[in-house]
Amino acid sequence: MAITTMTTPLPVSLFPFLLLIPAICLSFCHANSNLLCIQSEREALLKFKNHLIDPSNRLSSWVKGGDCCKWIGVVCHNSTGHVNELHLAPLSEPDGFAPYAEWEAYYNSLLGGKINPSLLELKHLSSLDLSNNDFSSIHILKFFGLLEGLTYFNLSDAKFQGAIPHNLGNLSKLQYLDLGGNDLKSKSLQWVSGLSSLQYLDLSYADLHKFEPNSSWIPPFQCERIELGHWHLGPKFPQWLKFQKKLSYLDISYAGISDVMPTWFLNLPTQFEYLNLSSNQLRGEISDLNVTTTIDLSLNRFTGPLPRVLSTLTLLFLSNNSFSGSFSQLICDASSRKQMEVLYIDKNLISGDIPDCWNHC
Ligand SMILES: *[C@@H]1O[C@H](CO)[C@@H](O)[C@H](O)[C@H]1NC(C)=O
Ligand SMILES: *[C@@H]1O[C@H](CO)[C@@H](O)[C@H](O)[C@H]1NC(C)=O
Ligand SMILES: *[C@@H]1O[C@H](CO)[C@@H](O)[C@H](O)[C@H]1NC(C)=O
Ligand SMILES: *[C@@H]1O[C@H](CO)[C@@H](O)[C@H](O)[C@H]1NC(C)=O
Ligand SMILES: *[C@@H]1O[C@H](CO)[C@@H](O)[C@H](O)[C@H]1NC(C)=O
Ligand SMILES: *[C@@H]1O[C@H](CO)[C@@H](O)[C@H](O)[C@H]1NC(C)=O
Ligand SMILES: *[C@@H]1O[C@H](CO)[C@@H](O)[C@H](O)[C@H]1NC(C)=O
Repeated sequence: MAITTMTTPLPVSLFPFLLLIPAICLSFCHANSNLLCIQSEREALLKFKNHLIDPSNRLSSWVKGGDCCKWIGVVCHNSTGHVNELHLAPLSEPDGFAPYAEWEAYYNSLLGGKINPSLLELKHLSSLDLSNNDFSSIHILKFFGLLEGLTYFNLSDAKFQGAIPHNLGNLSKLQYLDLGGNDLKSKSLQWVSGLSSLQYLDLSYADLHKFEPNSSWIPPFQCERIELGHWHLGPKFPQWLKFQKKLSYLDISYAGISDVMPTWFLNLPTQFEYLNLSSNQLRGEISDLNVTTTIDLSLNRFTGPLPRVLSTLTLLFLSNNSFSGSFSQLICDASSRKQMEVLYIDKNLISGDIPDCWNHC
């Protein structure tokens, strides 16, 4: 008896506070959702979601009536509440030895299905990332070219197929365009002419059967990074690269270029960080290389003495060319020796012993 009279007052006195806590939370959360997610944008996102296939229910937070600014992958402007960014890349791919369950989780995290043009309702969308998903049967849709506010557009390795819609060239604010790794076709590069803000272009592995090089084309953009590996750019060396004054990363490997390496290319007023010209049929001599980090000239027909490396380089691939001359010239130069980590030079016409200086590498 004494025990019950002593314990009952405690819950009774707490009762009003317990009632207050949900009330505070409700009004707080409600005010927040009013402030952020815009209803028409929420509906557009839900419509977009309804056409997707999402095996692992990655977008489970995308529900009717919710604050879409808190949904996974959605970034809103912090004061206007407009949806600014959609980041919908899946889990990153596990390494080859990962357990089966990890691979299963990865495959289930891939989005697929159809992409609904309801995204056009997101008038303030500046960044769209659908990379690494699995849209295996569909084309890159024309409506993407109407998302005028895009500065960042990434569909890399998302298994899109077919023709690149040329109206993507209307995206004049685009700074980053990554369509690499898809099975795409394009009849010409002309549409890229509209992309006047471009800094980063990756169209590698696209198939450009009918591209006829137009030597008078001057691109309207200055890119820092261009990846056109596995495009059919050749047989002439792409002249328009002459106008790229900011380029530091260039991959035009396997691009069907069977031309003499133009001297202007090696004299561009820029220092490459990464340069991949591998697997073309480039000819001519290269005396100096001013590239940091990586250069791949393998599988070409370069002749003449081994190039002099003017910068500190970590990876140098020269295999399968006809470079001649002595080995020591290449690797005993004080500056190139500093950081070179990997050198592939097999299948050339090099003579001479491996010099002592190699030991200092
Ligand atoms: C909103 O974003 C701007 C710019 O990104 C930032 O300067 C500002 O501090 C942010 N405001 C809030 C309330 O987070
Ligand atoms: C596009 O996405 C892929 C994979 O998520 C990433 O590796 C790549 O760097 C992205 N491209 C750009 C321009 O950010
Ligand atoms: C968009 O691109 C298409 C196809 O390239 C072109 O016909 C059209 O005029 C462009 N629209 C605008 C507004 O630039
Ligand atoms: C190159 O393309 C431009 C722009 O499309 C065109 O005006 C010009 O006639 C073309 N030149 C050649 C040689 O095909
Ligand atoms: C250069 O490109 C080729 C073909 O696309 C690729 O196999 C190779 O790994 C690249 N080299 C480097 C150093 O990245
Ligand atoms: C190599 O490039 C750097 C940076 O652009 C430049 O300062 C330097 O003069 C170049 N070296 C030669 C020998 O061209
Ligand atoms: C590299 O060159 C050798 C001949 O020097 C040739 O037999 C071989 O096929 C070449 N490798 C490739 C991948 O083309």
